[in-house]
Amino acid sequence: MRQQSLRWHPSSCSSRNQWPLTPHDAMRPHGIRLPHAEEMPVTPPHTAMPPPDTRHILIVEDEPALREAYAEALGMQGYAVLTAANGEDALLVLEGNAVDLVLSDLKMPRLGGEEMLREITLRGLSPAVIFLTGYGTIESAVNCLKLGAADYLLKPFDMLQLFKKIALELASGSCLRSKGGRVREIESFSERLRGQNDSAEVFKVLLTQVQRTLAPQAMALFSCSGQAGALSPLFLWGPSFRECPQTRSWLLEKVALVLGQCGAMVLGPQMGKRVEDLREGVRLGSAAVVPIVGMRGVYGVLALGRDQGSTPYTREDLRMLNVYTGHAAPFLESILSSQRFRGISAEVVTSYAQAVEAKDIYTRGHSERVSGYATLLGQALGVADRDLEILRTAGILHDIGKIGIPDGILNKPSGLTPEEFEIMKRHPVVGRDIISRVSSLEEVVPLVYHHHEWFNGQGYPTGSSGADIPLLARILSVADGFEALTSIRSYHEAMTVSQAKQVLSEGAGRQWDPEIVDAWIWQLRDDTLPEISEFKGAPLDLR
Ligand SMILES: [Fe+2]
Repeated sequence: MRQQSLRWHPSSCSSRNQWPLTPHDAMRPHGIRLPHAEEMPVTPPHTAMPPPDTRHILIVEDEPALREAYAEALGMQGYAVLTAANGEDALLVLEGNAVDLVLSDLKMPRLGGEEMLREITLRGLSPAVIFLTGYGTIESAVNCLKLGAADYLLKPFDMLQLFKKIALELASGSCLRSKGGRVREIESFSERLRGQNDSAEVFKVLLTQVQRTLAPQAMALFSCSGQAGALSPLFLWGPSFRECPQTRSWLLEKVALVLGQCGAMVLGPQMGKRVEDLREGVRLGSAAVVPIVGMRGVYGVLALGRDQGSTPYTREDLRMLNVYTGHAAPFLESILSSQRFRGISAEVVTSYAQAVEAKDIYTRGHSERVSGYATLLGQALGVADRDLEILRTAGILHDIGKIGIPDGILNKPSGLTPEEFEIMKRHPVVGRDIISRVSSLEEVVPLVYHHHEWFNGQGYPTGSSGADIPLLARILSVADGFEALTSIRSYHEAMTVSQAKQVLSEGAGRQWDPEIVDAWIWQLRDDTLPEISEFKGAPLDLR
């Protein structure tokens, strides 16, 4: 057996979930945030053995630094912590110790998390198992729920989220894994979340799930923009929230309280708390209010209400509500970061194009026009939306490799010598090398690389011909050729649309794909330059 450690860090803290969260709290490597020292409970001097009612947690993690970080943090929370470096060692620990909860990685050497869980079930062992998973192993985590795991937590996560999940799991007395119906609910909820790529849709899935499973008679959802704590009401439903001004102001107070403490609350007579400050005539009998908390901040607050006379909300309901919001938060986080990244990427793409055009005085606006023409041509040919985005971006970036061509060659007013032309011919290769370093532009690379291939195989850099040249590159080539013909260049005056059409027709089957030329000539049937919209916004759906 590998080395395991047993630690005991008794805690006097009774409000371990009440620490405030802020979006910019200090982070540990791997995205794990440990509470600041001042947030940690004061711990009495080291005690040799835990008292008999201490809950035992086994941490199964192959990376020593992470294992140590989890062990230390959970030890500070008052749990007795055991550790193991893989599933095989974990089973040995479980055979010899009474463990209440296993916190485990999924991918580990010798025996992974999923196989370990199967063995735990086969051997009749009974700890609750929570898996820590990245997006890459989320399917495996969902499988583990089917196999009886209590829950999973998506990496990167905040350590406070982990504490909360563990505390809820241990406090519930009846684990989620023993409630097959609820496991299936969560599983299908996760599946529905995974299909969403818009935050409004994630909120909708969350509201639908909550409405179906927690039977509220009133619901309110607020979103947080993250800027100065701005809170916007997104959804308000049910007479007691919609029609009663007193209840609404009461609700806002509770939402503010929940945001301030970043902790969930349930209010009702069964909790020994009154739904305070409500005047006569108000129908609300109990409420549950939870923040939607991700690693980088709070994304919203969800409130549920039931009228007087209805079964009041309980802590178990609050637990389920926490499970649902806890699952929705990483998806909201991922969508919002993706949107930010798309914005950044659009700026990068436009800057690239401007850098080339700053060098090549004859091609100002060329990239933008090629992009517009290629998109129009793609639409005319029935290209799918996703491919249109690729074409649009490739239009902007196709000549990016000219950054590596000397100015004297780029702007030479007379024809190029054979040696100079050989240098100029390198620009698709240089462009490919630049773009291929940006993973989100992966699909644009073949278009940049092949935009000077000829349909008859006489082009460069590979000499590919016909259908061996990617379709989108063939479209881009026609758009590029047309733009060059109708613009002033160092070596010719601008042609009219009619003259350019003539040149394209003559080059169909030789330089360009004849079917694509035909489609473009049809688009230009009134002999005027097509109107194109300015390139702005995200070039690609980067999710
Ligand atoms: Fe080019």
